[in-house]
Amino acid sequence: MPNTAALVLAAGKGTRMHSDRPKVLQTLLGEYMLAYVLAALRPHFAENIWIVAGHQARMLEAAFPGGRFVLQEEQLGTGHALMLALPALAGAGCRHVLVVNGDAPLLDAETTRDFLEKAGGADLAFATLDLDEPGSYGRVVRAGGNVRAIVEAKDCDPSTLELHREVNAGLYLISLPLAETLSPRITGANKSGEYYITDLVALSVAGGYDVRAVQCGRDEGLLGVNSPRELARVEEILRRRVVMRLLERGVLLHAPDMARISPFARVEPGAELTGPCEILGRSEVKRGARVASHCVVRDSVIEEGAELRHFSHLEGARVGAGALVGPFARLRPGAVLEAAARAGNFVEIKNARLGEGAKANHLTYLGDADIGSGANIGAGTITCNYDGRGKHKTSIGEKAFIGSNTALVAPVVVGANSLVGAGSVITRDVPEGEMAIARSRQKNLPRKKN
Ligand code: UD1
Ligand code: CA
Repeated sequence: MPNTAALVLAAGKGTRMHSDRPKVLQTLLGEYMLAYVLAALRPHFAENIWIVAGHQARMLEAAFPGGRFVLQEEQLGTGHALMLALPALAGAGCRHVLVVNGDAPLLDAETTRDFLEKAGGADLAFATLDLDEPGSYGRVVRAGGNVRAIVEAKDCDPSTLELHREVNAGLYLISLPLAETLSPRITGANKSGEYYITDLVALSVAGGYDVRAVQCGRDEGLLGVNSPRELARVEEILRRRVVMRLLERGVLLHAPDMARISPFARVEPGAELTGPCEILGRSEVKRGARVASHCVVRDSVIEEGAELRHFSHLEGARVGAGALVGPFARLRPGAVLEAAARAGNFVEIKNARLGEGAKANHLTYLGDADIGSGANIGAGTITCNYDGRGKHKTSIGEKAFIGSNTALVAPVVVGANSLVGAGSVITRDVPEGEMAIARSRQKNLPRKKN
């Protein structure tokens, strides 16, 4: 959109959330509320998006590095937030600004496009919804069909409040000259004493500007989130949207009502998932991969034909084609399983690579390690990677065989094709092709009779 910027109002505390975090940092399907709004705007505005931050502004800036922020130190209302942003917007050469409440995570790119099309040409346009339970939304007041004002629920006459079903959705397109002229005339003369952006409507009507209400029907797409209850409701709408989209695209999803999948994750047609499960962040689940129930997968890639058995937890991991994980495995950041590798029950892997076809099938910790292809890691093997000060690396060569209950005290290198006897504590490198055994010899003594 040339000459049009987007402005997200996100400075409020969100008192009804009873949380120290700014409201827009509450999460839905593992993603910040604000991330949804930004994703809806980015296709239309690219980087020309400004965010008004206030309550815990530092926290917000840290969560969205690279974002363009306007600071609203005191949150005196949505109209005040707009007014503070005007110099930055004018400085960037904008003629119009799309303003959106940061607490509207159901907004998507299509709704934004529709609104922009219908709003184009007006001096001030805003989106409206018809709600059966209009609750605390601002009411659209019309006279003879023409919009006259938006009146906040608190300021409405209680006897007519429920008659007004048409509400303000919190999405506006405003010409900058109009905003510059009229926003200084917003007064805080209302029950909250706040400067309301919605007062621009009556001011614009009085000023003879072209004001347009864009009716977005009964769509759930613009509901605001003000309380934990609304957060849960909106999260469920989003969850269903994602799941339905995946089913339509050909993802095999068992118990879809219990699958929580981030809209930013990519699940290919032909992947098979069973709920309850969580696929979060920028995860990718490729065609033919299988994810059994009770798995939690965050920011991880599951390649074609790989299988995650029940109760496996992955974060920042990569599981190669045809690899097998779990049940009850934990792959932490930097865990890489090459094709056909296996990490079985009660195996934890962190910052370590299991080469092609390598196996760690039971009760093992592999941290800061590189395991060659075809190696076998016996049950109970531990890489002792931490000496109390720093982390050290363990390297195990191709086709090495590590006997059960081995402790590998890093830094240490175990050569290819070598063998380590069960119960060993390995503190020195093992040369390629040799056998190492590091445990005390067994003695059999006569048993004392009592
Ligand atoms: C607002 C609208 C209401 C509309 C509803 C739609 C006003 C006065 N009312 O009400 O007509 O029906 O949204 O969801 O705008 N914010 C700031 N700075 C402030 C105050 C708020 O940035 O000083 C931000 C908040 O973080 C929030 C957004 O503006 O993201 C809206 O504020 P909120 O207090 O939630 O307004 P509502 O009462 O929901
Ligand atoms: Ca709100």
